[in-house]
Amino acid sequence: MKILITGAGGQLGRELVRALAPEHQLIVKTRAELDVVDEEEVMRAVRESSPDVIVHAAAFTQVDLAEQHIEQAFAVNAFGTRNVALAAKNARALMVYVSTDYVFDGTKGCAYVERDRTNPVNIYGQSKLLGEKFVQMICERFYIARTSWLYGASGSNFVTKVLALAKQRSELQMVNDQFGSPTYASELAGFIREALGRNQYGVFHVSNRGCCSRYEFAQEILNIAGLNTVKLVPVGADGFPLPAVRPVRSDLDDEAIRNNGFTRLNTWQESLRSFLLEDLRY
Ligand SMILES: NC(=O)c1ccc[n+]([C@@H]2O[C@H](COP(=O)([O-])OP(=O)(O)OC[C@H]3O[C@@H](n4cnc5c(N)ncnc54)[C@H](OP(=O)(O)O)[C@@H]3O)[C@@H](O)[C@H]2O)c1
Repeated sequence: MKILITGAGGQLGRELVRALAPEHQLIVKTRAELDVVDEEEVMRAVRESSPDVIVHAAAFTQVDLAEQHIEQAFAVNAFGTRNVALAAKNARALMVYVSTDYVFDGTKGCAYVERDRTNPVNIYGQSKLLGEKFVQMICERFYIARTSWLYGASGSNFVTKVLALAKQRSELQMVNDQFGSPTYASELAGFIREALGRNQYGVFHVSNRGCCSRYEFAQEILNIAGLNTVKLVPVGADGFPLPAVRPVRSDLDDEAIRNNGFTRLNTWQESLRSFLLEDLRY
C-alpha cells in the first residue's frame, strides 16, 4: 500500500516509519515538509501522491501550552485534521487519526470504553475531540486510535524525563492521584500496521493494558532501570499546579480490539520492560 504519514518527525511518526517501511511504500511528511494547517498544501501533497492510506500523526501535543495558544491548538488538532480528512476523502484514502484519552473527563471511576461519553477538561482534549468529529463527519473509511501516556525511543516523554532526572537528583516528587495507561509507541504503530490489513473501521482504544499513577509508573521505570537508590516521594496533583487540568483517571479499555479480534497490546509493565531493556539497553 502507498501510505502518507503526517507528523513523521514526531515520537509516533518515527515509530510508524519503522513499523510500516518494510511492507509498504511510504510518503513521509515531517512538519517542515507538510504543515497540516495549510489546506492548499495538504490538498496538493495528497493529490500529487494519491496514497491508499493517510496516517495522521501530526498534532499540537503540548497540553499546558495549548491553554495559552488556544487558536493554534485548534488550528492544528481540529482544523488541520479537517484538512487531512478532506484530502483523504478526495483521494478515496483510508484515514487513520491518532487521538487521546484526554477526550474524557476522568470522572468515570474505571477504564473508558470507546462508546463512553466524551467531555474533555482542557483545550488539548477539546481540540483533539473536534478533530475526531471532523474525521467521523468527512471520511467514509477511518480508524480513530485513541491512545494515552505515549513514550518511545525518540522524543521527550515521561520515561525519558524520569530517567534524566534520576541521574541528576537523589529524590523525585511524583503525582500519585492521577491515573492512566502508559503506552509504548512501537505497539501503537503495530496496531496501526495490523489495522491497515483489515476493514473493521471505527474508534479503537489503543493503549497498554492496565492502569497506574504517575508515581507507580516512575517507580517501575526506576526498578527496571536499576536506579533504586533514587527516592520517590508521592505528592498530590494540587502540589504541582499546571496550566491545563488533567483527568483524574483516564485509562482506556480495549473493548473494540477484543471484540474485533485484533492483537491485544501487552500490559504496561511488560512493554516498559521491553522498552528499557531492548530499546534503551538498560
Ligand atoms: N504523547 C502523548 O502522551 C500522547 C497521548 C495521547 C495521544 N497522543 C497523540 O498521539 C499522536 C502522536 O503524538 P506524539 O507523542 O508522537 O507527539 P509529538 O512527538 O509531539 O509529534 C507530533 C508531531 O506533529 C508535528 N506537528 C505539529 N504541528 C504540526 C503541523 N501544523 N503540521 C504538521 N506537523 C505538525 C510536530 O512537529 P514539531 O515537533 O516540529 O512541532 C511533531 O513532529 C498525536 O496525535 C497526539 O495527539 C499523544
